[in-house]
Amino acid sequence: MATIIDGKAVAQKTKAAVAEETKRMSQRPGLAVIIVGDDPASRVYVNGKRKDCEECGIYSEEYTLPADAGQKALLELIDALNAQDNIDGILCQLPLPAGYDYDEKEVIYRIDPSKDVDAFHPFNVGRIMIGDYDFLPCTPAGVMHLMDEYQINPEGKRCVVLGRSNIVGKPQSMLLLHRHGTVTVCHSRTPNMEEVVREADILISAVGKPGIVTADMVKPGAVVIDVAMNRNEAGKLCGDVDFESVQKVASYITPVPGGVGPMTRAVLMKNTLTAAKLHGKH
Ligand code: GUN
Repeated sequence: MATIIDGKAVAQKTKAAVAEETKRMSQRPGLAVIIVGDDPASRVYVNGKRKDCEECGIYSEEYTLPADAGQKALLELIDALNAQDNIDGILCQLPLPAGYDYDEKEVIYRIDPSKDVDAFHPFNVGRIMIGDYDFLPCTPAGVMHLMDEYQINPEGKRCVVLGRSNIVGKPQSMLLLHRHGTVTVCHSRTPNMEEVVREADILISAVGKPGIVTADMVKPGAVVIDVAMNRNEAGKLCGDVDFESVQKVASYITPVPGGVGPMTRAVLMKNTLTAAKLHGKH
């Protein structure tokens, strides 16, 4: 049976380390979170972030804009936050509401790269490519942190990433490459995905389809990291991995919930602290 990776515990430890640092600072780091519209899932995420900030001694501001606020109002808010010294990090919760002509790219580009705690701005993405960065995107960095905590070293390992999103798949593959993994990225046009997955020593799934990874696809002893956050037919939170069967084959596995999710939020706190230091706070 696989060891279950306790994301909650590692996240707690990470947040405690951030809190320890902010306690000693004369100026508190600050995070602004923007939510446009009333998507319930986004609301849950944003409430979680507020709680994390409280735990970590980070000042937080939250801006809720109506779904029809419009691109111009959103950009104006970002401009104002870019200029605000008490704000070190700006996170605009994605996706933006559909049907209102929002331009996500323009929003991401507008955030000052030194306040881009999501690491979505092309300046930061480019820096990650060459391995010279201040921030790493929260989810892929959280995955690396979990592996480090459990002494799982990707060096020389066959790493397979399922999914090629800008938020997870692409940066995840880059981080594994930086750590000397041999990385393959599978996506919707990959033929024989099952065969590729079967070769993985480390499998990271970020597809968003419940049960897409089954036990017969997993090499015995593989490390299986489930990044997805789906709801099954019963409305219950679940990942991409058929946890019950795969845990019998894998050496390590992350649960959903309680695996990667809490780590994503903990890295956001770390990034906000990093941003504050970049802005000269100490
Ligand atoms: N929506 C889902 N995940 C994320 C994330 O990591 N950052 C932002 N800004 N929006 C998200």
